[in-house]
Amino acid sequence: MQILEDLSGISVLDLSGETRVATRPEVPVPVYGERIVEGFRIWDPYRSKMAALLIKSHIAGTFYKLVSDLNLSPASKILYLGAATGTTASHFSDIVPAGLVYAVEFSARSMRDLLVLCTARDNIIPILEDASCPERYGPFLEPVDLVYQDVAQRNQAEIAARNAARYLKGGGALVLMIKARSVDVTADPKAVYKAEVERLAGVEVISSADLRPYHRDHWAVVARKEVERR
Ligand SMILES: C[S@@+](CC[C@H](N)C(=O)[O-])C[C@H]1O[C@@H](n2cnc3c(N)ncnc32)[C@H](O)[C@@H]1O
Repeated sequence: MQILEDLSGISVLDLSGETRVATRPEVPVPVYGERIVEGFRIWDPYRSKMAALLIKSHIAGTFYKLVSDLNLSPASKILYLGAATGTTASHFSDIVPAGLVYAVEFSARSMRDLLVLCTARDNIIPILEDASCPERYGPFLEPVDLVYQDVAQRNQAEIAARNAARYLKGGGALVLMIKARSVDVTADPKAVYKAEVERLAGVEVISSADLRPYHRDHWAVVARKEVERR
Protein backbone atom coordinates (compact mmCIF):
# COMPACT_ATOMS: atom_id res chain seq x y z
CA MET A 1 0.00 0.00 0.00
CA GLN A 2 1.18 3.52 -0.85
CA ILE A 3 -0.24 6.86 0.28
CA LEU A 4 -0.53 9.04 -2.84
CA GLU A 5 -2.19 12.12 -1.33
CA ASP A 6 -3.27 13.00 2.16
CA LEU A 7 -5.03 16.10 3.53
CA SER A 8 -7.41 16.88 6.42
CA GLY A 9 -7.93 13.23 7.34
CA ILE A 10 -8.69 12.10 3.77
CA SER A 11 -6.17 9.88 1.99
CA VAL A 12 -5.74 8.64 -1.56
CA LEU A 13 -4.11 5.21 -1.59
CA ASP A 14 -2.61 2.95 -4.16
CA LEU A 15 -3.71 -0.57 -3.29
CA SER A 16 -1.87 -2.96 -5.60
CA GLY A 17 -2.40 -0.67 -8.58
CA GLU A 18 -5.96 0.42 -7.66
CA THR A 19 -6.63 4.01 -6.60
CA ARG A 20 -8.86 4.28 -3.54
CA VAL A 21 -9.80 6.98 -1.05
CA ALA A 22 -9.92 6.23 2.65
CA THR A 23 -10.27 7.67 6.12
CA ARG A 24 -8.40 6.60 9.23
CA PRO A 25 -10.49 6.25 12.40
CA GLU A 26 -9.01 5.75 15.85
CA VAL A 27 -10.64 2.30 15.95
CA PRO A 28 -10.83 0.82 12.43
CA VAL A 29 -14.05 -1.20 12.42
CA PRO A 30 -16.06 -1.71 9.17
CA VAL A 31 -19.46 0.04 9.03
CA TYR A 32 -20.94 -1.16 5.71
CA GLY A 33 -18.69 -4.09 4.79
CA GLU A 34 -15.84 -1.91 3.50
CA ARG A 35 -12.24 -3.14 3.55
CA ILE A 36 -9.84 -2.16 6.31
CA VAL A 37 -6.21 -1.90 5.14
CA GLU A 38 -3.45 -1.00 7.62
CA GLY A 39 -5.87 1.00 9.75
CA PHE A 40 -7.55 2.79 6.81
CA ARG A 41 -11.27 2.37 6.06
CA ILE A 42 -11.52 2.13 2.28
CA TRP A 43 -14.25 4.52 1.13
CA ASP A 44 -16.41 2.90 -1.58
CA PRO A 45 -17.06 5.29 -4.53
CA TYR A 46 -20.03 3.20 -5.70
CA ARG A 47 -21.71 3.48 -2.29
CA SER A 48 -20.72 7.08 -1.53
CA LYS A 49 -20.90 10.06 -3.90
CA MET A 50 -18.34 11.90 -1.76
CA ALA A 51 -15.82 9.10 -2.32
CA ALA A 52 -16.58 9.24 -6.06
CA LEU A 53 -15.98 13.00 -6.05
CA LEU A 54 -12.67 12.59 -4.20
CA ILE A 55 -11.37 9.86 -6.54
CA LYS A 56 -12.37 11.90 -9.58
CA SER A 57 -10.60 14.95 -8.16
CA HIS A 58 -7.44 12.88 -7.65
CA ILE A 59 -7.59 11.76 -11.30
CA ALA A 60 -8.16 15.36 -12.42
CA GLY A 61 -5.24 16.61 -10.29
CA THR A 62 -7.52 18.75 -8.10
CA PHE A 63 -7.63 16.66 -4.88
CA TYR A 64 -5.76 19.24 -2.76
CA LYS A 65 -7.88 22.10 -4.09
CA LEU A 66 -11.12 20.22 -3.43
CA VAL A 67 -10.17 19.17 0.10
CA SER A 68 -8.81 22.66 0.87
CA ASP A 69 -12.11 24.14 -0.34
CA LEU A 70 -13.96 21.95 2.20
CA ASN A 71 -11.82 23.64 4.87
CA LEU A 72 -12.23 20.79 7.38
CA SER A 73 -10.30 20.36 10.62
CA PRO A 74 -10.60 17.62 13.28
CA ALA A 75 -13.00 19.84 15.28
CA SER A 76 -15.25 20.87 12.38
CA LYS A 77 -19.03 20.67 12.57
CA ILE A 78 -20.91 19.17 9.63
CA LEU A 79 -24.62 19.24 8.79
CA TYR A 80 -25.39 16.12 6.76
CA LEU A 81 -28.76 16.07 4.97
CA GLY A 82 -29.97 12.65 3.81
CA ALA A 83 -27.72 10.53 6.03
CA ALA A 84 -29.57 7.24 5.27
CA THR A 85 -27.91 4.45 7.27
CA GLY A 86 -24.65 6.38 7.68
CA THR A 87 -22.32 5.06 4.97
CA THR A 88 -20.85 8.45 4.04
CA ALA A 89 -21.60 10.02 7.42
CA SER A 90 -19.34 7.41 9.06
CA HIS A 91 -16.38 8.60 6.96
CA PHE A 92 -17.10 12.23 7.86
CA SER A 93 -17.19 11.07 11.48
CA ASP A 94 -13.62 9.73 11.00
CA ILE A 95 -12.52 13.06 9.49
CA VAL A 96 -13.81 15.18 12.43
CA PRO A 97 -12.95 13.11 15.53
CA ALA A 98 -13.19 16.18 17.81
CA GLY A 99 -16.13 17.69 15.92
CA LEU A 100 -19.72 16.71 15.18
CA VAL A 101 -21.77 15.36 12.30
CA TYR A 102 -25.44 16.37 12.57
CA ALA A 103 -27.12 13.63 10.54
CA VAL A 104 -30.62 14.51 9.28
CA GLU A 105 -32.71 11.69 7.84
CA PHE A 106 -36.49 11.45 7.47
CA SER A 107 -36.88 7.71 6.90
CA ALA A 108 -37.59 5.91 10.18
CA ARG A 109 -36.31 2.65 8.63
CA SER A 110 -32.90 4.16 7.76
CA MET A 111 -32.78 5.96 11.10
CA ARG A 112 -33.03 2.63 12.92
CA ASP A 113 -29.71 1.53 11.38
CA LEU A 114 -28.20 4.98 11.78
CA LEU A 115 -28.91 4.84 15.52
CA VAL A 116 -26.88 1.61 15.78
CA LEU A 117 -23.96 3.44 14.17
CA CYS A 118 -24.42 6.39 16.56
CA THR A 119 -24.07 4.15 19.62
CA ALA A 120 -20.54 3.30 18.42
CA ARG A 121 -19.68 6.88 17.33
CA ASP A 122 -20.47 9.65 19.75
CA ASN A 123 -19.69 12.45 17.25
CA ILE A 124 -22.72 11.65 15.06
CA ILE A 125 -25.95 13.33 16.24
CA PRO A 126 -28.98 11.63 14.61
CA ILE A 127 -31.93 13.91 13.76
CA LEU A 128 -35.14 12.30 12.47
CA GLU A 129 -36.46 15.23 10.43
CA ASP A 130 -37.32 16.54 6.99
CA ALA A 131 -34.42 18.53 5.49
CA SER A 132 -36.91 20.71 3.64
CA CYS A 133 -38.04 22.14 7.00
CA PRO A 134 -34.70 23.33 8.45
CA GLU A 135 -36.40 25.49 11.10
CA ARG A 136 -37.58 22.29 12.84
CA TYR A 137 -34.11 21.17 13.89
CA GLY A 138 -32.78 24.58 14.92
CA PRO A 139 -32.83 23.70 18.64
CA PHE A 140 -30.36 20.82 18.08
CA LEU A 141 -27.82 22.63 15.95
CA GLU A 142 -25.04 25.19 16.13
CA PRO A 143 -23.53 26.93 13.06
CA VAL A 144 -21.58 24.44 10.93
CA ASP A 145 -18.44 24.52 8.78
CA LEU A 146 -19.83 22.25 6.05
CA VAL A 147 -23.29 21.40 4.75
CA TYR A 148 -23.34 18.12 2.82
CA GLN A 149 -26.55 17.17 1.03
CA ASP A 150 -27.59 13.98 -0.77
CA VAL A 151 -31.40 13.83 -0.60
CA ALA A 152 -32.60 13.04 -4.15
CA GLN A 153 -35.59 15.39 -4.03
CA ARG A 154 -37.26 17.49 -6.73
CA ASN A 155 -36.22 20.74 -5.02
CA GLN A 156 -32.68 19.71 -4.08
CA ALA A 157 -31.06 23.10 -4.68
CA GLU A 158 -33.75 24.95 -2.74
CA ILE A 159 -33.34 22.60 0.26
CA ALA A 160 -29.55 23.09 0.17
CA ALA A 161 -29.81 26.87 -0.11
CA ARG A 162 -32.26 27.13 2.78
CA ASN A 163 -30.13 24.96 5.08
CA ALA A 164 -26.95 26.84 4.12
CA ALA A 165 -28.64 30.20 4.74
CA ARG A 166 -29.71 29.10 8.19
CA TYR A 167 -26.84 26.97 9.49
CA LEU A 168 -23.67 27.41 7.40
CA LYS A 169 -21.01 29.77 8.79
CA GLY A 170 -19.75 32.57 6.53
CA GLY A 171 -16.83 31.14 4.54
CA GLY A 172 -18.15 27.58 5.07
CA ALA A 173 -18.61 25.07 2.25
CA LEU A 174 -21.67 23.43 0.76
CA VAL A 175 -21.37 20.11 -1.07
CA LEU A 176 -24.53 19.30 -2.99
CA MET A 177 -25.02 15.99 -4.77
CA ILE A 178 -27.56 16.62 -7.55
CA LYS A 179 -29.53 13.68 -8.88
CA ALA A 180 -30.96 14.93 -12.17
CA ARG A 181 -33.62 12.22 -12.43
CA SER A 182 -35.16 13.17 -9.09
CA VAL A 183 -35.82 16.67 -10.43
CA ASP A 184 -37.20 15.67 -13.85
CA VAL A 185 -37.03 12.13 -15.29
CA THR A 186 -37.83 13.28 -18.82
CA ALA A 187 -35.46 16.26 -19.21
CA ASP A 188 -31.83 16.22 -20.34
CA PRO A 189 -29.83 15.54 -17.12
CA LYS A 190 -27.26 18.22 -17.94
CA ALA A 191 -29.96 20.87 -18.41
CA VAL A 192 -31.53 19.85 -15.08
CA TYR A 193 -28.17 20.13 -13.36
CA LYS A 194 -27.57 23.62 -14.78
CA ALA A 195 -31.03 24.81 -13.73
CA GLU A 196 -30.51 23.47 -10.19
CA VAL A 197 -27.16 25.26 -9.87
CA GLU A 198 -28.84 28.53 -10.85
CA ARG A 199 -31.29 28.02 -7.99
CA LEU A 200 -28.46 27.89 -5.44
CA ALA A 201 -29.01 31.26 -3.82
CA GLY A 202 -26.67 32.73 -1.20
CA VAL A 203 -23.55 30.71 -2.09
CA GLU A 204 -20.89 30.96 -4.77
CA VAL A 205 -20.24 27.82 -6.81
CA ILE A 206 -16.51 27.05 -6.86
CA SER A 207 -16.38 23.67 -8.60
CA SER A 208 -18.54 20.90 -9.98
CA ALA A 209 -18.03 17.39 -11.29
CA ASP A 210 -19.93 14.70 -13.09
CA LEU A 211 -19.82 11.53 -10.93
CA ARG A 212 -19.66 8.98 -13.77
CA PRO A 213 -18.69 6.13 -13.89
CA TYR A 214 -19.61 5.66 -10.22
CA HIS A 215 -23.05 7.35 -10.27
CA ARG A 216 -24.97 8.03 -13.51
CA ASP A 217 -26.78 11.35 -13.93
CA HIS A 218 -25.34 12.73 -10.70
CA TRP A 219 -23.29 15.90 -10.31
CA ALA A 220 -21.44 17.19 -7.31
CA VAL A 221 -21.37 20.92 -6.68
CA VAL A 222 -19.04 22.60 -4.20
CA ALA A 223 -19.96 26.13 -3.16
CA ARG A 224 -18.91 28.63 -0.56
CA LYS A 225 -21.00 30.98 1.56
CA GLU A 226 -19.81 34.54 1.63
CA VAL A 227 -18.31 35.87 4.83
CA GLU A 228 -20.75 38.37 6.30
CA ARG A 229 -19.46 41.92 6.53
CA ARG A 230 -20.39 44.00 9.55
C1 LIG B 1 -29.17 8.58 -1.73
S1 LIG B 1 -29.69 8.32 -0.09
C2 LIG B 1 -28.34 8.95 0.84
C3 LIG B 1 -27.10 8.09 0.93
C4 LIG B 1 -26.14 8.65 1.94
N1 LIG B 1 -25.94 10.08 1.71
C5 LIG B 1 -24.78 7.99 1.92
O1 LIG B 1 -23.96 8.32 1.04
O2 LIG B 1 -24.51 7.22 2.82
C6 LIG B 1 -30.84 9.61 0.14
C7 LIG B 1 -31.40 9.66 1.54
O3 LIG B 1 -32.01 10.92 1.71
C8 LIG B 1 -33.18 10.71 2.50
N2 LIG B 1 -34.03 11.87 2.25
C9 LIG B 1 -34.68 12.21 1.09
N3 LIG B 1 -35.36 13.36 1.25
C10 LIG B 1 -35.15 13.76 2.52
C11 LIG B 1 -35.59 14.89 3.27
N4 LIG B 1 -36.37 15.83 2.73
N5 LIG B 1 -35.17 15.01 4.55
C12 LIG B 1 -34.37 14.07 5.11
N6 LIG B 1 -33.93 12.98 4.45
C13 LIG B 1 -34.30 12.83 3.17
C14 LIG B 1 -33.75 9.39 2.02
O4 LIG B 1 -34.60 8.82 2.97
C15 LIG B 1 -32.45 8.59 1.80
O5 LIG B 1 -32.10 7.87 2.95
